[in-house]
Amino acid sequence: MSGFEIVFSGRPIPVTPGQTIGAALHAAGIRSWRTTRVNGRPRGLFCGIGVCFDCLLTVNGESGVRACLRVAAPGDEVTPS
Ligand code: FES
Repeated sequence: MSGFEIVFSGRPIPVTPGQTIGAALHAAGIRSWRTTRVNGRPRGLFCGIGVCFDCLLTVNGESGVRACLRVAAPGDEVTPS
C-alpha cells in the first residue's frame, strides 16, 4: 500500500499507512508541537503509549488528540493544540 500525506500547520507530512500522527511527525523531523503553560518548555512525544498527554494536538478541528494514539488518515489537518 502506498503512502499518503497529512498537513501539519500547512506543511505536507508523508505517512506510511498505519503510522500514528506522532510517528509521522517524528519521522519528518518534528520533535515538538506545543509548549508548557508555565515555562514554555517544548513538548511532543514522551511516553508514546497514551499515558502522559504531552503529545496533544488538534486534528481536523478536534482538540486534545493524543498524537501517539491517533492513526493518521489521508488529508488529516493537524495543528498544535
Ligand atoms: S506521548 Fe504520552 S500520551 Fe502521547
